[in-house]
Amino acid sequence: MCGIVGYIGKRDVAPLLLEGLQRLEYRGYDSAGIAIHASGKAGGLKTAKAKGRVRELESRLPKRFAGTTGIAHTRWATHGAPNDENAHPHMDAEGKVAVVHNGIIDNAAELRAKLTADGVEFASETDTEVLAHLIGRSQAEKLEEKVRDALRHIEGTYGIAVLHSDFADRIVVARNGSPVVLGIGEKEMFVSSDVAALVSHTRQVVTLDDGEMATLKADDYRTYTTEGSRTTSSPETVEYAAESYDMGAHDTYMHKEISEQADAVDRALRGRIDDRFSTVHLGGLNLDAREARGVRRVKILGCGTSYHAGQIGAQMIEELARIPSDAEPASEFRYRNPVVDPDTLYVAVSQSGETYDVLAAVQELKRKGARVLGLVNVVGSAIARETDGGIYVHAGPEVCVVSTKCFTNMVVSFALLALHLGRIRDLSVADGKRIIDGLRRLPAQITEILEGEAEIKKLAELYADAKSMMFIGRVRGYPVAREASLKLKEVSYIHAEAYPASELKHGPLALIEPAMPTVAIVPDDDLLEKNRAALEEIKARSGRILAVAHAVQQKADHTIVVPKNEPELDPILMGIPLQLLAYHTALSLGRDIDKPRNLAKSVTVE
Ligand code: F6R
Repeated sequence: MCGIVGYIGKRDVAPLLLEGLQRLEYRGYDSAGIAIHASGKAGGLKTAKAKGRVRELESRLPKRFAGTTGIAHTRWATHGAPNDENAHPHMDAEGKVAVVHNGIIDNAAELRAKLTADGVEFASETDTEVLAHLIGRSQAEKLEEKVRDALRHIEGTYGIAVLHSDFADRIVVARNGSPVVLGIGEKEMFVSSDVAALVSHTRQVVTLDDGEMATLKADDYRTYTTEGSRTTSSPETVEYAAESYDMGAHDTYMHKEISEQADAVDRALRGRIDDRFSTVHLGGLNLDAREARGVRRVKILGCGTSYHAGQIGAQMIEELARIPSDAEPASEFRYRNPVVDPDTLYVAVSQSGETYDVLAAVQELKRKGARVLGLVNVVGSAIARETDGGIYVHAGPEVCVVSTKCFTNMVVSFALLALHLGRIRDLSVADGKRIIDGLRRLPAQITEILEGEAEIKKLAELYADAKSMMFIGRVRGYPVAREASLKLKEVSYIHAEAYPASELKHGPLALIEPAMPTVAIVPDDDLLEKNRAALEEIKARSGRILAVAHAVQQKADHTIVVPKNEPELDPILMGIPLQLLAYHTALSLGRDIDKPRNLAKSVTVE
């Protein structure tokens, strides 16, 4: 969703900020803007804004737009339509303050009414403009105090960066519920809401905590709380180099990220397997063996694809550790006043670690005293910080809006958690070893699946004419079907339904006809015959079938054959060809693959 970049140093700031904004484009946005401290005698702040893409903004920059300090923003509309006026930065009445803001100010309407009554005229419909006026009207002497004064009035979430024409030597930033990361350079400083915009300049970063502010000067930075007490934050090194955020030789990030999965899984396993005890070491879990034995239930919370990964994870934990487990959309959980049980282990799963619904569920659980683990990709993200411990999924940066490699690595990470809990409880050494051997086979098997891409492309082109598709699976295969159906609809815009194969007779069979193809997950496990019976039912209604199976299915029109692993781990492999199916379907339909319409990469608002 919205993105912030800022720079203070000696270089020409506009090109740097535009490059930073381009790196944030993947998050989804509808307008962009920039403000700089203009160099030259006149000085003061200059801004430019544009609805649409960053290149639109670039074409609108005035000829004289030179400076070495500035902030910029990509906006995803919440308060007010996507247009030039509502794009950030927002200014105060005197044009001395410029603010970019991610998040939502809950009491904006109330503050706006008060300011209007005081004679303030608003130039936009946004909540953010309120903040610019509040900073501008503060009587405090220092910019930091002015910002602090303004924030005292604010209820809601924010990540902000502020320029003031009377304080040309600094950028002031603050965080509450929306990420702010400082990039520490040589006699230059950067700020962004996302490390993706920083790594081409520096890998030394400081991630602000909620309630923290910072002042950036060209050769110095300091952090402090919104109350003004100093905080200590030494820079950390970002794990991935700038190239990891680039598309490389691929035409889309989605293709790149699907192709990276063998390496990504290998990374998730690296250094974690303990052959001696047929288990795994999960360093950051913060859950000792005694505590793990005391867990009576596991509840997994996530949204979208991560929720589907959680559904597979819940089955793995139930099977391997024999602990009753389930997954629930975090977005629903937090609104139903859930019973929070001290013996339940909660696991929040998220690629970005910033999804508001997941974060809010975690905060509610923590408030009620629950133990919450995070299964997160982005190191140092809000959910990673908010949880008591957890597992990093180590998929590497995922730029495409639709999640692929992170899904796979999340499921692998759940397998590690299930194995760990299982071996502390009743999973035998032999079964532990069986799962470890299976995990080790995954990277090579993923490579084998990816080598079949040309065939999958042909199938995608064959089925791309469908207006609607059915995805079915049973037990372990059902969440795979759900995820595959989500992937197809979000990237190709073809309507898709996912059902347990066992439910066909109870209603969805009415939809089956030649124009409604079915994708069936048919692993060679104890439900094989049941799955085959479902294929018979569909065939009897002249339905077209594409099976994903361990062997060619006679009743299917086409089968994608995937290598067999252990039954508990097969869902990891069965999802991968269906990512390629969604990708090639979207490609043949000419869709905007990396940025599907209406979607954003990190959903940091409700
Ligand atoms: C779909 C997709 C989304 C995300 C969901 C949660 O391809 O990517 O459904 O999975 O928005 O995001 P994270 O995992 O960042 O919490």
